[in-house]
Amino acid sequence: MRAVSLFLAAVPLASVAGYSTGRHPDAYHDFHERELLRRNIVYDGSIASSYDYVIVGGGTAGLVLASRLSENSNTSVLVLEAGDTGEAVQDKIDIPSYTYYNSLVGSSYDWAYETVAQPDADNRQISWPRGKVLGGSSAINGMYLVRPSELEINAWASLVPNGSIWNWDNMYAAMKKSETYTPPLSNVQDTAKIEYSNSSHGFSGPLHASYPGYMMPQVGDWTPSLNNIDIMTSPNPDGGDGWGAFVATSAINPANWTRSYSRSAYIDPLPPRANLAILPNATVTRIVFANATGGLTATGVQYASQKGATESTVSVNKEVILAAGAIGSPQILMVSGVGPQDVLEAAGVAVQVALPGVGQHLQDHLYAEVTWKTNEQTAGSMFYGNYSNLNDVPTTSTPFLSFINSATAYVNFSALIAAPETYAQQIADAVDSSASTLVPSQYSEVVEGYKAIYNLTAQKLLLSSIGDMEILLSLTGAGQYEPQVISIQAALQHPFSQGRLYINSSDIFEYPIIDPQYLSNNADLVMLREGLRFCRSLGNTAPLSAAMAEEISPGSSVQSDEQWETWLAQNSYTEYHPSCSCAMLPQSQGGVVDANLRVYGLANVRVADASVFPFQFSAHLQAPVYGLAEQAAELIRGTYVNADAANATSSASASSSAPSATTSASSRKSAATVLTPRVLPAALGAVAAAALAAIAL
Ligand SMILES: Cc1cc2nc3c(=O)[nH]c(=O)nc-3n(C[C@H](O)[C@H](O)[C@H](O)COP(=O)(O)OP(=O)(O)OC[C@H]3O[C@@H](n4cnc5c(N)ncnc54)[C@H](O)[C@@H]3O)c2cc1C
Ligand SMILES: *[C@@H]1O[C@H](CO)[C@@H](O)[C@H](O)[C@H]1NC(C)=O
Ligand SMILES: *[C@@H]1O[C@H](CO)[C@@H](O)[C@H](O)[C@H]1NC(C)=O
Ligand SMILES: *[C@@H]1O[C@H](CO)[C@@H](O)[C@H](O)[C@H]1NC(C)=O
Ligand SMILES: *[C@@H]1O[C@H](CO)[C@@H](O)[C@H](O)[C@H]1NC(C)=O
Ligand SMILES: *[C@@H]1O[C@H](CO)[C@@H](O)[C@H](O)[C@H]1NC(C)=O
Ligand SMILES: *[C@@H]1O[C@H](CO)[C@@H](O)[C@H](O)[C@H]1NC(C)=O
Ligand SMILES: *[C@@H]1O[C@H](CO)[C@@H](O)[C@H](O)[C@H]1NC(C)=O
Ligand SMILES: *[C@@H]1O[C@H](CO)[C@@H](O)[C@H](O)[C@H]1NC(C)=O
Ligand SMILES: *[C@@H]1O[C@H](CO)[C@@H](O)[C@H](O)[C@H]1NC(C)=O
Ligand SMILES: *[C@@H]1O[C@H](CO)[C@@H](O)[C@H](O)[C@H]1NC(C)=O
Ligand SMILES: *[C@@H]1O[C@H](CO)[C@@H](O)[C@H](O)[C@H]1NC(C)=O
Repeated sequence: MRAVSLFLAAVPLASVAGYSTGRHPDAYHDFHERELLRRNIVYDGSIASSYDYVIVGGGTAGLVLASRLSENSNTSVLVLEAGDTGEAVQDKIDIPSYTYYNSLVGSSYDWAYETVAQPDADNRQISWPRGKVLGGSSAINGMYLVRPSELEINAWASLVPNGSIWNWDNMYAAMKKSETYTPPLSNVQDTAKIEYSNSSHGFSGPLHASYPGYMMPQVGDWTPSLNNIDIMTSPNPDGGDGWGAFVATSAINPANWTRSYSRSAYIDPLPPRANLAILPNATVTRIVFANATGGLTATGVQYASQKGATESTVSVNKEVILAAGAIGSPQILMVSGVGPQDVLEAAGVAVQVALPGVGQHLQDHLYAEVTWKTNEQTAGSMFYGNYSNLNDVPTTSTPFLSFINSATAYVNFSALIAAPETYAQQIADAVDSSASTLVPSQYSEVVEGYKAIYNLTAQKLLLSSIGDMEILLSLTGAGQYEPQVISIQAALQHPFSQGRLYINSSDIFEYPIIDPQYLSNNADLVMLREGLRFCRSLGNTAPLSAAMAEEISPGSSVQSDEQWETWLAQNSYTEYHPSCSCAMLPQSQGGVVDANLRVYGLANVRVADASVFPFQFSAHLQAPVYGLAEQAAELIRGTYVNADAANATSSASASSSAPSATTSASSRKSAATVLTPRVLPAALGAVAAAALAAIAL
C-alpha cells in the first residue's frame, strides 16, 4: 500500500481518476486505474436483498439519480440496467465522430425498436434506436446540448397543479448544475463564428459541455447565410431565448476530446460508495405491489438477465424510480398492471391501477433533409480519406475525431408560413375536430390531454419567437461514397400529431407496439414541407451556396406542395426524441405523473426520464433530461430529509406500526457487506475516496 500512497502523491490527483490522457506504463497502476473506473458497478451479479431506492434503467436520467441519491451515505441505492457496461466498445462510445462513421446504432447496444407502419408516412416502419448500455441513449446520441426556451419550460410548469418547481428558474439552475462548460478554442470559435455567454453556464457540474476541437470551414458560413435570409444569430442560445442561428454546445470533454455522457460524467469519477450498486444485464420484468393505505405500494421489483432466464426479486424500502426512458418506463408500468384498462386486458395483464394515459401522448421530432453534391472536403470525405480502413483510426480521440455536427437554427412559425396569423387561427380552431378523430384512445381523459397539449402549442407557441422548426447543417453524410455531399435538415419541433405505445404481451421481453402517428395531423405535413423549402433556400444563399453544387435530393423535380408532401412522407425519419409517454399532466387529462413525478395511484413509484415531459420542446432532449434528473434527485431527497434525520436520532424508538423499519436497517448492513469485497482493497479505497472527494461531484 506504500506504493499506492507514493503513486497518489507523485502524480496529479486527476490521474488517479483516469483523468490522464496517456497510459501508465506500469501494469500495476493500469490495473488499479481500471478498478477505479469500474467502482460501484457490480460485475459478479451479487447485490443485497433490499435497497432504499431502486432505480430502473441506468441511462441518462438513471445514472444522474444514482449519483445524487447515493451522496447521502445513509441511503442505499440500486440501479438495474438492461444493457451491458459498454466497456467492450468503449472507443465507439468515447470517440465523438464514431457517432456517424462507426456507430453503435444497430448493434446489441441499441434496442433497435421500430414503429408500426405509418399510414401518413408512406406506410413505412421507421427505426427508433435507443441506447441499451450504461449511460443509455447518452452513450450513443449525437451529443447536441441544446436547452429549451424559458417560455416553453414555464408553459410546462403551468400544465399541472404545483408545477412551479419545473419553472424556468429552477430548470435553468438545474441544467447549469449538471454541467462544466468550457468555451471553444479560439481557432474553433473564429472558424465557426461561435457566440456564447458564460453567464448561462455552470462551471462545476459533472457533465462536460463544450465544442469540437476541430471545425470544418463551412460551419463559418452558417450564421451569415441565415442572417441573409432574416434569421438573426443568437448571442446566447442557452440562456432561455433559444431561437435564431447558432453553433450549439455539445457533450464533449475538451480534456481528451471524448463524449461526455451520464456514466463518464456522474459515475466514473465517484469514489467507491458502499451504498451504491449498479447492476448491468438486469432487465426489470415488473414491479411487485402490495396494498397499503395511501395507494398501491411497490415492495420490490423483479428482474432477469434475458428472456427465459430465472427471475430474481429485490426489495425496496423507500421508492422505485423508473428511468427506463420513453419506451421502457411506460412498458414496465403496463406489464406491472398500471395502464389503460383496455390495453392491459387485451394483453392478459391483471389491472392494478387503471391509468389511461400510460403510453399515450407519445410525440417525437420528425425530420427530413435536402442534399447537395459538393466539390469541397466535408467531414465525411476527410474521415474516409484519412481512414479508408477503420482499423487505422486511433483508439483514443483526437481534435479531428471530435468534429460532430452542431450548426443549428431554430426558426419560428411566422418565418416559415405565409399569413401566419390566419393559419395559426385555423389550427387553433381545429382542436375539437382533431381530437375527435386523431386520439388513439377510447378514454376521455386522454382526449382532454391531447387538447391541452394542442391548445398550448396553438395558442402559446406558434406565434411566439420560439422555433417551430430546427434547421441543421450536416457535413458528415455519406463521405465514403462519390459524390461528396452536404445536407441541410429540417426537424419539426412542436408536432400536433400525438401517438401511443402499448403492449400486446405481459412479457417485458416482447417489444411494445410503437405508433407515433407521424403526420396524422395535417398541420405537421404543411410545416415540415415549408421547413424543407426553407432548407433549399438556405442552401442557395451565400456564402453557404458556394459549397453547394447540384441538389441531388429531392432534386429539381420536387417543387409543388403536393410533390414535397409526397416526397417527405417517403423520406422523413426520427430525430431520436420520443417523449411524453408518461406525461406530467392532471389525471383528468390522461396524466401519468403529478408535479412530484409520482405515478397516480401508486404510493412510492416515480418516473424521472424523457417520458414525463408533457409536450415537445424546441430543443434536443438530453439537456432537459439532465435538468429534470438533477431536480428529481433534489425532490426525492427532500421528501425524506426530515424522516432520515428523525430516524438517525431515534432509530431505537422507531414505531412498531411501520413495517419496514427493521428490514431497512438490516438491509443497509447487508448491502455494505455484499458490496465491500468487490470494491477496491480497503486501504486504497479509503485513500482514493478521500482524494477523489475533492474533485468529484
Ligand atoms: C441515436 C440517438 C441520437 C440522439 N441525439 C441526440 C442529441 O444529439 N442531443 C440530444 O439532446 N438528444 C439526443 N438524443 C435523445 C437523447 O439521447 C434522449 O432523449 C435521452 O438520452 C433520453 O434519456 P432517458 O434517461 O429518458 O432514457 P435513456 O437514456 O434511453 O435511458 C433508459 C435506460 O433504461 C434502460 N432500460 C429500458 N428498459 C429497461 C428495463 N425493463 N429494465 C432495466 N433497464 C431498462 C435502457 O437500456 C437505458 O439504458 C438521441 C437519441 C438517440 C437514440
Ligand atoms: C477523458 O478524460 C476524463 C477526465 O476529464 C477521464 O475520466 C476519461 O477517462 C478520459 N477518457 C479517455 C478515453 O481517456
Ligand atoms: C452481460 O452479458 C453479456 C452477454 O451475455 C456478457 O458478455 C457480459 O460479460 C455481461 N456483463 C456483465 C457486467 O455481467
Ligand atoms: C399542491 O401542494 C399543496 C401544498 O403542499 C398540497 O396541499 C396540494 O395537495 C398539492 N396539490 C396537488 C394537486 O398535488
Ligand atoms: C468565459 O470564461 C472563460 C474562463 O473564465 C474566459 O476565458 C472567457 O473569456 C469568458 N468568455 C466570455 C465571452 O466572457
Ligand atoms: C389490492 O386490492 C385490490 C382490491 O381488493 C385487489 O383487486 C388487488 O389485486 C390488490 N393488489 C395487490 C397487489 O395486492
Ligand atoms: C485528415 O485529412 C485532411 C486532408 O484530407 C488533413 O488536412 C488532416 O490533417 C487529416 N487529419 C488527420 C487527423 O489525419
Ligand atoms: C382548448 O381551447 C379551446 C379554445 O380554442 C377551449 O374551448 C378548450 O376548453 C381548450 N381545452 C383545453 C383542454 O385546454
Ligand atoms: C420570427 O422570425 C422572424 C425572422 O427571423 C422575425 O423577424 C420575427 O420577429 C420573429 N417573430 C417573433 C414573434 O419573434
Ligand atoms: C404483438 O404485436 C407484434 C407486432 O405487431 C406481433 O409480432 C406479435 O405477434 C403480437 N403478439 C401477440 C401476443 O399478439
Ligand atoms: C447518517 O446517519 C447518522 C446516524 O446514524 C447521522 O449522524 C448522520 O448525520 C446521517 N448522515 C446524513 C447525511 O444524513
Ligand atoms: C424511518 O423509520 C420509519 C419507522 O420508524 C420507517 O417507516 C420509515 O420508512 C423510515 N424513513 C426513512 C426515510 O427511512
